[in-house]
Amino acid sequence: MKQIRSDSTLIHVGTREESSYDVLVKQGALSSLPSLLGEYTSSHRYAIISDRNVASLYGHSLRDNLRKEGLDVELFVFDQGEVNKTRSTWCDLTDKMLAKSFGRDSCILALGGGVVGDVAGFVAATYMRGVPVVQIPTSLLAMIDASVGGKTGVDVSAGKNLVGAFHPPRLVIVDPTVVSTLSVDECKQGLVEAVKHGLIMDPQYFAQLSELIPELLNYDLDKIEEIVSRSIELKASVVTEDEHEHGKREILNFGHTFGHAMEVAQHYTMSHGTAVGRGMLLEIRLGIELGLTDPSTFEATVSCLAKLGISNHGSQDLNSEEIMDHLRLDKKSKLGGRRFVLISGIGSVLRNGEDWSHTIEEGILMEFLGSL
Ligand SMILES: NC(=O)c1ccc[n+]([C@@H]2O[C@H](COP(=O)([O-])OP(=O)(O)OC[C@H]3O[C@@H](n4cnc5c(N)ncnc54)[C@H](O)[C@@H]3O)[C@@H](O)[C@H]2O)c1
Ligand SMILES: [Zn+2]
Repeated sequence: MKQIRSDSTLIHVGTREESSYDVLVKQGALSSLPSLLGEYTSSHRYAIISDRNVASLYGHSLRDNLRKEGLDVELFVFDQGEVNKTRSTWCDLTDKMLAKSFGRDSCILALGGGVVGDVAGFVAATYMRGVPVVQIPTSLLAMIDASVGGKTGVDVSAGKNLVGAFHPPRLVIVDPTVVSTLSVDECKQGLVEAVKHGLIMDPQYFAQLSELIPELLNYDLDKIEEIVSRSIELKASVVTEDEHEHGKREILNFGHTFGHAMEVAQHYTMSHGTAVGRGMLLEIRLGIELGLTDPSTFEATVSCLAKLGISNHGSQDLNSEEIMDHLRLDKKSKLGGRRFVLISGIGSVLRNGEDWSHTIEEGILMEFLGSL
């Protein structure tokens, strides 16, 4: 992590010149956008893509401010929510950009949560065979997780995120002050992924987070900035090592194998954060059961996640048959077993030779789920 000024943090992601980028974290960064765009892009036209919520809070004023600075900019808006992360929204946005004669010299500014980042990123990946995108995440989840890594895409009826592209941003601009308008529930969603970063990579960070959660949920912007910066730095280190998800990036799936199966089993009525939180608890218990995870990890994680309103419900809302069915269908599963990232203790992922995951046989999983 490189401090450029005492009031901001600059994190570099990637190694190859064509796909590496900076992430700037700074309170008030949105107001420096015109000069940053001049520095990082050579585009002549800018398309801000946002959802209706974020557009009314920040999109219209951002467009007006950029215009005042003499930039040629239009705002394109779609209705908020995961239900709109679709090919139809992608289609509508690209058609509107074409109608406004946006050319190859355009740049897309993705202003919003993870849904906007994914859709706008996918528009950028495909528009005229690819134009640059600047990610401007506004939800804690998008700051901590979705805006870094270059994954873009939409959901289709066969599943979430199944159509997409890797399209690294030209720049990521994180202005933590915008978190002040985000609901507490949305803040919790993002913080679950931060807890995951601590559990897989950094015990001190995990301890710091556990302590800071009440202040973070009380919108202490300095603390939020600190946490966002550290989480991005941790995610960036993994993405830099494994830009195309062939190896170490898999550790970011911790909690997500069971988490995803629970989300699908409950038809996405369970939020992603809750599913991943419970998924992490289950994967820790699985590791303990297999004699691979330090048992004290469980209590520490239970008490941290309780501060985010995630409880260790055990089997209450878990139907092991249903979970197993969905694990079988998981696109990341391997023949004869399911892949799990396991931790040996707080801050360290357990390697399996060259592999970052462990393939656990179905019989063992059934027995484990049945014992809960
Ligand atoms: N590309 C990746 O690597 C990656 C990683 C993780 C998640 N994701 C994707 O991210 C999405 C979830 O992201 P999300 O949780 O940000 O959801 P979201 O984009 O739907 O945002 C949640 C809600 O918060 C609102 N919002 C956003 N910023 C706000 C602000 N500053 N003030 C007030 N309201 C605000 C939005 O309008 C929306 O209603 C999922 O589609 C997921 O697949 C992608
Ligand atoms: Zn996640």
